[in-house]
Amino acid sequence: MKTYLITGGAGFIGSNFIHYMLKKHDDIRLVNLDSLTYAGNLENLKEAMEDSKHVFVKGDICDKELVSELFRKYDFDCVINFAAESHVDRSISNPEIFVRTNVMGTVNLLQRAKEAWYDDAANEWKVGKKYVQVSTDEVYGALGPEGYFTESTPIQPHSPYSSSKAGADHFVKAFYDTYGMPVNITRCSNNYGRYQFPEKLIPLMINNVKQHRQLPVYGDGMQIRDWLYVEDHCSAIDLVAKRGRIGEVYNIGGHNEKTNIYIVKTIIERLRERLADDQISEELIVHVQDRLGHDRRYGIDSDKIRKELGWYPQTSFEEGIVFTIDWYLENEAWLERVTSGDYRQYYEEMYAKKESRG
Ligand code: NAD
Ligand code: TYD
Repeated sequence: MKTYLITGGAGFIGSNFIHYMLKKHDDIRLVNLDSLTYAGNLENLKEAMEDSKHVFVKGDICDKELVSELFRKYDFDCVINFAAESHVDRSISNPEIFVRTNVMGTVNLLQRAKEAWYDDAANEWKVGKKYVQVSTDEVYGALGPEGYFTESTPIQPHSPYSSSKAGADHFVKAFYDTYGMPVNITRCSNNYGRYQFPEKLIPLMINNVKQHRQLPVYGDGMQIRDWLYVEDHCSAIDLVAKRGRIGEVYNIGGHNEKTNIYIVKTIIERLRERLADDQISEELIVHVQDRLGHDRRYGIDSDKIRKELGWYPQTSFEEGIVFTIDWYLENEAWLERVTSGDYRQYYEEMYAKKESRG
């Protein structure tokens, strides 16, 4: 039996990863460390909480004592760090927390892992250990209309979010270059699927369409993202943790580039059809003030992980978006609970600042 420390396992991708791993492997125990910020939700883990292969610990990745104690107690074979502040718009309003969680939290995990995994007497790393940093394509900055991000594209982040993720990536690389720590970094494009918090484009639009609310498209809506179904991201991380070459970075992407306006129109069309509701139309779209420093296009070249580890996405965008929309419709109680209270205040504050451009 191996034991993995999963951080941020109550968030969107982390909880999907926990479900994926519990279903896929009988011989891996998952210790899930999550401080349950606004984005973490134990409801995402309902079935996992009943599974003896999953242990939930509420706590902060920046907490030295707690993380050391967990290493002593569970003797982890692998750490997969999902925990982060993850929303670009929030990072524009409040960058400090991004530095604390994304940079300082990562450094704390690296340090505690090094203390536990480096055998000072033998002067070598214990065998079979690995640290995986879950990063993002946003660290590469933005693309023009041509070309793709490869693993050797220079790191040129623009937003406070992507800058904090880039900072964390540099520390992971530094631990490999300096101490020879066994690490991998994954850099994935935009994910979508169940349990995504409705501050991100796809669930926010689904939620607004359902309520006949305006659909706030930033600027001209022609920005491009490369969308990947979340389970395909999970399978890639599982493979990298098991078979990724030590010290390597792996890009993960769907080769599925869409403009934001295309995504919004697809959601409108599917919901109008599914709910047989004529009030759902493109008239709900409102172009609002653009995001500051808005990256125009992301596009991932994931040839390396395909060639080295045989990974490729299993779910097409056409299938994945239907699963996702249907999941949000079937899980109304989940959506209602996460959008009550603090979310309402967040929404009013964030979108009041973005005046309509007609
Ligand atoms: P999310 O915001 O949904 O979840 C983040 C989780 O981390 C939450 O459960 C939160 O409670 C937890 N957390 C935050 N601060 C913490 C702390 N100090 N200690 C412990 N737990 C803490 O994010 P997500 O979309 O699931 O993203 C997960 C990871 O994947 C992030 O590192 C993100 O940068 C990366 N990523 C996300 C995407 C995407 O499209 N969502 C794409 C590429 C990479
Ligand atoms: P988001 O889901 O926040 O992910 P990221 O910024 O990490 O790519 O946004 C995806 C795209 O959608 C991005 O170009 C910004 C845009 N967007 C809107 O146009 N309106 C919105 O209300 C939101 C949340 C995002």
